Amino acid sequence: MSATASAVAPDETVLDLRDAAGLRAAVRKASPAVIVNAAGYTAVDRAESEPDVARAVNAVASGALAEEATRLGALFVHYSTDYVFDGAKGAPYVETDTPAPLGEYGRSKLEGERRALAAGGRVVVLRTSWVYGPRGQNFLLTMLRLFEERDEARVVDDQVGAPTTAGYFAEATLRVVEARPAPEACGLYHVTAGGQTSWCGFAQRILELDGRPGKRCTRVVPIRTSDYPTPARRPAWSVLDCRRFTERFGFPQRPWEDLLAETMAELDGRA
Ligand SMILES: NC(=O)c1ccc[n+]([C@@H]2O[C@H](COP(=O)([O-])OP(=O)(O)OC[C@H]3O[C@@H](n4cnc5c(N)ncnc54)[C@H](OP(=O)(O)O)[C@@H]3O)[C@@H](O)[C@H]2O)c1
Repeated sequence: MSATASAVAPDETVLDLRDAAGLRAAVRKASPAVIVNAAGYTAVDRAESEPDVARAVNAVASGALAEEATRLGALFVHYSTDYVFDGAKGAPYVETDTPAPLGEYGRSKLEGERRALAAGGRVVVLRTSWVYGPRGQNFLLTMLRLFEERDEARVVDDQVGAPTTAGYFAEATLRVVEARPAPEACGLYHVTAGGQTSWCGFAQRILELDGRPGKRCTRVVPIRTSDYPTPARRPAWSVLDCRRFTERFGFPQRPWEDLLAETMAELDGRA
């Protein structure tokens, strides 16, 4: 990026992704060199009862942004998800595997990918999985709260994926932006931490690393997805093969356990 590069990050009150026309006008006015679409309708269960909103935000807006970026000759980086897959493969998914989402969220995200890539410009779609970090609402922070409140936590053990930190994923995004990829380097990529675990395994590792004196919880109990019914079905196994990204952008995968340990050390440093 040049020394004079600047970024704007409008929130929903300034730029509502449900308003595709407003979105197009805002992009034309700002005329950016790069657009990173980190926003999305991410309420996986609620999407089952409001698929139109999910589709407007995740699919229609993504297509509009990609078209406007292409019109400007700008790079468009868009985020997608492992939930475009049904989890039946049993081996890490590659970018050429056929998606088969199990719910409205995954369907809207898949349509978003397709609309973005169809714009024909410099579009990079990054699929990631199980994102968490030291801020916001996410699985790690939910577990840390539960560990203070309860003696044991019951967590599903039959959904397997790759927990990935927001920081790692942001660095991957920066790598793409700084690479200024030519059209032939654009397209669809998988970007997650390395390795795999279940939500229960993830929670158990958090518990092991949690050294807070106020912790009450002493064990994480594995349960089945069927013991914890939710409106949306989720893939049982959604590990993504990230070799295409690591090779193209020289960005190595890092073990999910290392990223978790670093994140918890960061939280400890703040306590
Ligand atoms: N979290 C994961 O595990 C995961 C996994 C794979 C892929 N992804 C993808 O990564 C991206 C970011 O996910 P996240 O977990 O960071 O989601 P998040 O915490 O729910 O954040 C989504 C953001 O989108 C904004 N947003 C929602 N509706 C909007 C609208 N109509 N107009 C403008 N902004 C709107 C939200 O703004 P407000 O805060 O104002 O509502 C929020 O800042 C999404 O594309 C998601 O599909 C996430």
